Amino acid sequence: MLSLGSLSTVALLLHAYTTSCHAQSFNLAKDYSGSSFFDEWDFYGHWDNLTLGDINWVTRENATAKQLAYVNDAGRAVLRVDTNPVVWNEKRDTVRITSQREYDLGTIWVADIAHMPFGCSVWPALWTKGHTWPDDGEIDIIEGINLNQNNQIALHTHWDPPCTHVDPPPANQRGTSGNLNCSSAAGCTVLETAPNSIGAGFNSAGGGVYATQYDVTGIYIWFWSRPNIPQSILSTTSTSGLSSLADWGPPTAAYPAGTHCDIARSFSPQSIVVTITLCGQWAGNPEFYTPQCGGQGPTGICYDDNVVGDGSNYNEAYFEINYIRAYSDPNATPNTVTRTSTSTGTTTTRPSTTATTTAGGSTGGGTGAATTNLASLSLIWMGTALIGGLLAAVL
Ligand SMILES: *[C@@H]1O[C@H](CO)[C@@H](O)[C@H](O)[C@H]1NC(C)=O
Ligand SMILES: *[C@@H]1O[C@H](CO)[C@@H](O)[C@H](O)[C@H]1NC(C)=O
Ligand SMILES: *[C@@H]1O[C@H](CO)[C@@H](O)[C@H](O)[C@H]1NC(C)=O
Repeated sequence: MLSLGSLSTVALLLHAYTTSCHAQSFNLAKDYSGSSFFDEWDFYGHWDNLTLGDINWVTRENATAKQLAYVNDAGRAVLRVDTNPVVWNEKRDTVRITSQREYDLGTIWVADIAHMPFGCSVWPALWTKGHTWPDDGEIDIIEGINLNQNNQIALHTHWDPPCTHVDPPPANQRGTSGNLNCSSAAGCTVLETAPNSIGAGFNSAGGGVYATQYDVTGIYIWFWSRPNIPQSILSTTSTSGLSSLADWGPPTAAYPAGTHCDIARSFSPQSIVVTITLCGQWAGNPEFYTPQCGGQGPTGICYDDNVVGDGSNYNEAYFEINYIRAYSDPNATPNTVTRTSTSTGTTTTRPSTTATTTAGGSTGGGTGAATTNLASLSLIWMGTALIGGLLAAVL
């Protein structure tokens, strides 16, 4: 347990750290927007054999032909669920796209989104992943199901080396920590507490911006509803860098690196993924589906009451994206951890990266190792064993 004294020391250190890093600027690495938005992505082209949703993630050709992925008259990228009739025993079409580029430590992704899919059975996500799961890590930036009103952030990592979220969370984390074990089925989760982060509320506020800092010092995720987007982001263009993070405020999720989680060993370069699925292991799981959507139709079953039918219930099931941009920290060093993926785990051949940590660009936090001691770690493990059991069915 931490004393109040050590807590305030940590808070002071965090404050000093965030203040000292504000001057840093980031170079534009990639802009996905306008008519070229879809140029450098792979389309999955197969039914959802990953989260077992009742959909086909169609090829680029089919997505274009059926207008499931296109750039609209406002210059925004649209990714949507097919709204044509589907008969029983067939799946509904939608898209899953993965960026061809991979982004290393020292990256900030900023996504300006005007509209997000929502509704019973709908499961949208914007996330990043390495080649091999879970060995190369996954960062879930936006994820929600059914009529949920709060975004759920998560990291997923291999269990060796272990990665857990610090408990208590860093003083500057705005969201609420849930599961702490990043290799449990649900990952280590943080729930957004600010309003309008997903769903109908997000859309009626005009959307908003999500930013993710993927750094050797930690992973930090921010959300701003449209009226609250900081000037440093509003003033960027499709060709400019990011001049400052000084006006970003505290992140929703702050996962500092430390002895509890070595970011460079648990995460390899990441591709960006945008998906929509329907039902499946999370949205369609009766434990989560029934309380919100069980009255949606005669059967109470996600597939039967939603996916099957004329499709008009999916009129709101679309992403409309102004841009996704990647910025790079000019001072970052590439992640040189060598991975040998095996069926049972990953062998990393480089020692912990704490020795090679650069100044980084984080406004998020410093190393969280100082906030964890053995007593609280064993509590984390006991807690996660319980929560892990409860959530095992989720993903
Ligand atoms: C999903 O389908 C693709 C395409 O056939 C295949 O390459 C991949 O191994 C499958 N994944 C799983 C988890 O079954
Ligand atoms: C693409 O569309 C064709 C023609 O409708 C269909 O036969 C094929 O199964 C579709 N492929 C995918 C991956 O959806
Ligand atoms: C985290 O979860 C994984 C997968 O269930 C498990 O192997 C590991 O022991 C857990 N770690 C801790 C610290 O509880």
